[in-house]
Amino acid sequence: MFFQLLKKIGFILVWMFIVSINALQAQPAATLCATPPMGWNSWNFFEGKISDSIIREIADAMLANGMKDAGYEYIIIDDLWTNGRDKNNVLIADPVRFPFGIKNLADYIHSKGLKLGIYSNAAQLTCGGVSSSYGFEELDAKTFASWGIDYLKYDYCNAPDDVTTAFTRYKKMSDALKATGRPIVYAICEWGQRKPWLWAKAAGGHLWRTTWDLRDTWQSNNKDLTGIMEIFNDQDSLAQYAGPGGWNDPDMLMVGLYGKGSSSNAGTNGKGCTKTEYETHFALWCMLAAPLIVNSDTRNISSETLQLITNKDLIAINQDKLGKQANTIYNKDSVQVLMKILNSGNLAICIFNKSGTAKNISLNLKKDLDVWKPYKYVHAIFQNKNINPYNELTLKLEGHACEVYTFKN
Ligand code: GLA
Repeated sequence: MFFQLLKKIGFILVWMFIVSINALQAQPAATLCATPPMGWNSWNFFEGKISDSIIREIADAMLANGMKDAGYEYIIIDDLWTNGRDKNNVLIADPVRFPFGIKNLADYIHSKGLKLGIYSNAAQLTCGGVSSSYGFEELDAKTFASWGIDYLKYDYCNAPDDVTTAFTRYKKMSDALKATGRPIVYAICEWGQRKPWLWAKAAGGHLWRTTWDLRDTWQSNNKDLTGIMEIFNDQDSLAQYAGPGGWNDPDMLMVGLYGKGSSSNAGTNGKGCTKTEYETHFALWCMLAAPLIVNSDTRNISSETLQLITNKDLIAINQDKLGKQANTIYNKDSVQVLMKILNSGNLAICIFNKSGTAKNISLNLKKDLDVWKPYKYVHAIFQNKNINPYNELTLKLEGHACEVYTFKN
């Protein structure tokens, strides 16, 4: 009796072992950028005033202030880090600002559990006018991999206009990155000029900019300047192209800059946006499944900004594993409503007052939004409370404000 029991238990254990081995083998290789990348980028705040010590301090601050725990992972050194090539044509970092080289910096970043990104360009010179990778793709990809780079932003200044050349140049770098064997996120940055949503994934991109550079301003009346609203208004038709492993990138987050950025301030009134406008900017980018790349100086970030960019509920919407980008489901009298379908049949709904003045809003879930079904609970994120909407969502929104609701089964 006892031995029979032992035999049975032994059999069950062996069977469990085989099942779990099979399950492990059946796992597909993890998709790089299965959810939109989250991180920090040096460009808008620091431009060329970036250095080894600043990057280390930025990383330390992201650990101390909770950004890392909230999911911010990539620290991306943008343009103007290089100082040309050595006698073997290997890219070198500016020796004054990066005295220990990029590998040493990457080791530090990795020791903090973060990842390091870098910038290059598909022509001979970057937008800032320093050496870039055209003609050196294999060498540069190998160099980046040997340094431990985890993310490459690849720009398109000084390169031919046509889409065929752009595709060829982007694919060439992507092939070179893949050949290194190191998983490196590949961020295509040609500013949406050649409809990259149609070809960037085939060129190996994990994200592709859909717009010109975003400035730290709500709305610009200048056609050469893109504010948050100009960019937001252009994203709706692109929703179908976003998904795990390939994201539309409406550019980085201006949140918290308050006009202090260098590049992001160019041509604006220098004031940045209001607290409410940054809240809406962040919420909309979460709804759009956009990459969440903060530009503020993380060493001196206000608790108000920190609270916003580490908001767990908004980040959960952005990082939802289904990977859907929100669509507009209602747009009337300056009230726009976006819906993002979430995993397991849950929903996120964002109601947004586009006008500059306060509005009382009441929307019928069935008639106006066509989303009604009996959800177990509805959470209003900015109000931070669960609500029972019955058939109507009723709220007052200040000008440029929004509220985001999660509907859960
Ligand atoms: C372009 C990009 C920006 C930034 C600068 C650097 O303008 O769109 O995001 O990388 O180049 O020069």
